[in-house]
Amino acid sequence: MQNIFETHAHYDDDAFDGDRDELIREFPENGIAKVVNIGANISTSKATVELTKKYDFFYGAVGVHPSDIREMEEPGSIELIEKLAVENEKIVAIGEIGLDYHYEDTDEVLQKKWFVNQMELAKRLGLPIVVHSRDAAKDTMDIMTAEKAGDIGGVVHCFSYSKEVAKIFLDMGFYIGIGGVVTFKNGKKLKEVVEYAPLDRIVLETDAPYLAPEPYRGKRNSSLYIPHAANVIADIKGVSLEELYKITYDNAMKLYRL
Ligand code: NI
Repeated sequence: MQNIFETHAHYDDDAFDGDRDELIREFPENGIAKVVNIGANISTSKATVELTKKYDFFYGAVGVHPSDIREMEEPGSIELIEKLAVENEKIVAIGEIGLDYHYEDTDEVLQKKWFVNQMELAKRLGLPIVVHSRDAAKDTMDIMTAEKAGDIGGVVHCFSYSKEVAKIFLDMGFYIGIGGVVTFKNGKKLKEVVEYAPLDRIVLETDAPYLAPEPYRGKRNSSLYIPHAANVIADIKGVSLEELYKITYDNAMKLYRL
């Protein structure tokens, strides 16, 4: 059977409260060999640690998402994230961190500050970063260049920019996370990125419970739907599904240094 590496999901989310355990227990028999659960604030980072303790094939990332940045306290929050990462060896990355200027009321200054601080934490701990970047390509690239993010390494998850922007992140040595959006009718730009990016720099993700692929668009997503996006990616790259799973699994192992 295939070994699929799910590099980005949120199984701490309320959307799974009714059937979390039953769902996750189905993963191994469906080829989902490894999952990295991603924290988005302090409480979901703690929940991520618990999930990694409960399921042997789960790993985790801890960090605070740009949309939750207002909860950061100084001092306190960075120290807490550091403690979660240091005390739990299945925590393999800092994330998700980054910039999200999608909403009107964003505090760009505050987002940049905590993106930098969390990147510096990752550097100190020798962990890769999981970057979330939406409607903020230029600032993300500028900050990552200034911070020498290439020395830290990591993934730009749910990649949503052009292939020109992809080139910058690829040149820094980053992986590109591709999920359900690649199956959407309006996913042309992302398909171009998949065509452009070398296969050894692509990793599979869902961002579950969000961004379910066609034909489940709008419904609750889960790692069981990875084959829908994987089929499209394999097609674009001209490889078999088996080859795609094998290569992206190896990529994810390198990304998270497992
Ligand atoms: Ni996410």
